[in-house]
Amino acid sequence: MNTVTELIKNLADQHGRQRNNLLPILQGVVEQEKYLSEFSMKAIAKELDMSAAEVFGTATFYSFLEHKKMGRYIIRICKTISCSMKGSNQVLLAIEDMLKISLGETTTDGTFSILQTNCLGFCHQAPAMLINNEVYTDLTPEKVREILSMYINKIKEGAPNEN
Ligand code: FES
Repeated sequence: MNTVTELIKNLADQHGRQRNNLLPILQGVVEQEKYLSEFSMKAIAKELDMSAAEVFGTATFYSFLEHKKMGRYIIRICKTISCSMKGSNQVLLAIEDMLKISLGETTTDGTFSILQTNCLGFCHQAPAMLINNEVYTDLTPEKVREILSMYINKIKEGAPNEN
């Protein structure tokens, strides 16, 4: 059995095989694999006795469930009104400039991906972003450059993979 199939079986054992257990299983796969492949979605459908179209429909509804391979660190910058009024676009430009990639892309070494997201619930400390599960607020181009430098240094020092 390949490891994704095994992972899906374990998640289904843990959460159950009902329709309402689909979301935590999808999230579990994304947490481990960093994205949802067509193979994973079909395997989940088989495990939960659902159609692949239903699984795909749920997966595409949630923007946090990626369908393509992402970097080790996924940067999600908020694109909603409070953040955009407080300069999220300048922050995004600073990130793109520093990592030499555009929104939606992944660095060639597979370290960083940049995405946009809807409101993260930190409007009072806008602009905000997530790097994996870590929230960063009150961002400025300078502050975001410092944050990214910290991640780059961490990688250079050989930090283990984290989610
Ligand atoms: S608008 Fe960006 S966190 Fe709410």
